[in-house]
Amino acid sequence: MDCRHIQFCDRKSKIDYHQLQSLFGLGAFWAKERKIDELKIAIANSEPVISVWDGEQLIGFSRATSDGIYRGTIWDVVIHPDYRGVGLGRKLVETVLSHPRMNRVERVYLMTTHQQSFYERIGFETNSTTTMVLHNQPIHRSMPTPALQAQESLGA
Ligand SMILES: CC(C)(COP(=O)(O)OP(=O)(O)OC[C@H]1O[C@@H](n2cnc3c(N)ncnc32)[C@H](O)[C@@H]1OP(=O)(O)O)[C@@H](O)C(=O)NCCC(=O)NCCS
Repeated sequence: MDCRHIQFCDRKSKIDYHQLQSLFGLGAFWAKERKIDELKIAIANSEPVISVWDGEQLIGFSRATSDGIYRGTIWDVVIHPDYRGVGLGRKLVETVLSHPRMNRVERVYLMTTHQQSFYERIGFETNSTTTMVLHNQPIHRSMPTPALQAQESLGA
């Protein structure tokens, strides 16, 4: 496949949320159920957000969260199934890593279930010693934050 016309974009305003939902539906098993309102929140709070385009078709996506210096995490790496195996996934991750919000970060983390070999080729190492997870409450259940609870009980 000749990929010279494929464009990588770091503008959040370019994201087409319906196409992003479809891309996740096709290629990202962990993100198939995500709703557009939720995706907008995730993207607003991520930097960089990199999208990959064949003309007007969204064919790849990834985003990261970072403090700009100590720690960054890459999320939601996906290439459309028709465009895999020609180097776009590698270029997508490298584009995220080279962004100013990521390129000075001391450690870059990511979570992957099946794609360890892909990331090892880019330079990532398996890291089984430091990762823990809290399965927080469902997104749709609103719960007052501890700070708000404290204020409410002070006022009561
Ligand atoms: C993982 C994914 C992004 C890779 O994208 P891609 O465009 O096919 O990858 P590339 O063509 O850039 O491959 C880069 C290198 O990784 C290798 N590679 C790609 N997928 C691989 C896999 N599943 N297992 C082992 N190696 C793999 C390629 O052979 C290539 O090696 P090389 O540089 O030595 O030639 C893509 O398969 C995808 O979207 N998968 C579904 C979503 C997913 O699982 N994302 C990761 C979530 S953490």
